[in-house]
Amino acid sequence: MKNLLVVLMFSSAFLTGLPASANSTVDQLLQTYQQQGAQTVDPEQGKKLWYSKSGDRSCTTCHNSSPDKMGKHARTGKLIKPMASSANPERFQDSKKVEKWFLRNCKWTLGRLCTVQEKANTLSWLNSF
Ligand code: HEC
Repeated sequence: MKNLLVVLMFSSAFLTGLPASANSTVDQLLQTYQQQGAQTVDPEQGKKLWYSKSGDRSCTTCHNSSPDKMGKHARTGKLIKPMASSANPERFQDSKKVEKWFLRNCKWTLGRLCTVQEKANTLSWLNSF
């Protein structure tokens, strides 16, 4: 039964046409987001969200505007390692961590939760570096 589920999950990824990336955590998250209702994943929309301003806040308030550079937390001043996997191979290795920070950061930055579509778009854009 478990094997059947795995086969079904893989074939559904195939059917939805998601290109496999080098990061299996990202692949799995994107699949989950699609199962939760996200449509075609669009990295360009993710990029737009990343740079869009909500009042005086944006994702780049803490993360560097170049995802491959060090960022700095706006409140604590703590350094934040690059978001690009090319510059920081530790990125996006744990789906719980990704979800936890999407939750916190979308709330802080946008004053609301991100939709599954927004999470899918942003994650695929960040993972493209
Ligand atoms: C107030 C500061 C701040 C803002 C603004 C912010 N982040 Fe973050 N973000 C962090 C911190 C701190 C971490 C955790 C430390 C780390 O992973 O280096 C983090 C981690 C993440 C992670 C997890 C990365 C991983 O390796 O799993 C994602 C995804 C993320 N942020 C996305 C976003 C998005 C999308 C926005 C804009 C909607 C955003 N962040 C805005 C501070 C911020």
